[in-house]
Amino acid sequence: MGSSQYAITTTEVKSSGLSKPRNALKLVVLGATGGTCLEIVRHAIERGHSVTPFVRSPDRLSRFHDRISVKQSDLLDGAQLEQVLKGQDVVVSGFGPRVPVSNADAHLLEQFAIELTSAMSRARVRRVVVESVAFLFKNSVLPPAYLLGRLFFPSVVADASAMEQVFTASDLDWTMVRPPELTDNPYTGKYRVREGHLPRFGLKISRADVADFMIKVIDDRSSIRKVKGISN
Ligand SMILES: NC(=O)c1ccc[n+]([C@@H]2O[C@H](COP(=O)([O-])OP(=O)(O)OC[C@H]3O[C@@H](n4cnc5c(N)ncnc54)[C@H](OP(=O)(O)O)[C@@H]3O)[C@@H](O)[C@H]2O)c1
Repeated sequence: MGSSQYAITTTEVKSSGLSKPRNALKLVVLGATGGTCLEIVRHAIERGHSVTPFVRSPDRLSRFHDRISVKQSDLLDGAQLEQVLKGQDVVVSGFGPRVPVSNADAHLLEQFAIELTSAMSRARVRRVVVESVAFLFKNSVLPPAYLLGRLFFPSVVADASAMEQVFTASDLDWTMVRPPELTDNPYTGKYRVREGHLPRFGLKISRADVADFMIKVIDDRSSIRKVKGISN
């Protein structure tokens, strides 16, 4: 765990004035300024959850400013993570290296997983839903996801695999969600999910549909310590 020179900055705390549904949760969203997680933030707010995005640069979240509590600091600093996680119920992550992936980010997912799992244990937050990559489905034939990943994105495969191993070795209540190519198409709510497998001919899915599933799977106890393949 490293220590950071940065203090955590809190930008604004909500207030929809709406009463919360009984199953409302306190969610920390990591990677919240990314394509999938902007949709996760939107879906989570609509469902009445309290949303705390933890980001390095909050500008892209300004559209939600009066409905979320943004924390800004270094996501790879375990002490900062622990502080943000204390008192929260769930972590949802679409954190990942910006593409094209730089050499400096070659082990970003693994490093993130090490800091996050240990910060979650210290903060006593058990539930985490993580967006990973369909390239890790070694058993997928149509499409040959693992082969394609190893051929064209070997460093992504290696880093995502290392990340998943860190979660697997933890005693946290994780769920891995592995989509194939992500698009910015609109939400449809029509997608396929298979446990331990990529749906057949699963080539693409929109970030909005992945976000929908990641929010829904939070309170599905049967998905704990499971890998979910998702696609159109
Ligand atoms: N692209 C695909 O087709 C594809 C397919 C399957 C799975 N995936 C995986 O799915 C996940 C989500 O993908 P996406 O395209 O929706 O996400 P994205 O738009 O690339 O967003 C990535 C998020 O991670 C944050 N991030 C990256 N490096 C960081 C760092 N060093 N410190 C703090 N924050 C950092 C970014 O913050 P900033 O806004 O500050 O940069 C952003 O919020 C990723 O893990 C990706 O690998 C992608």
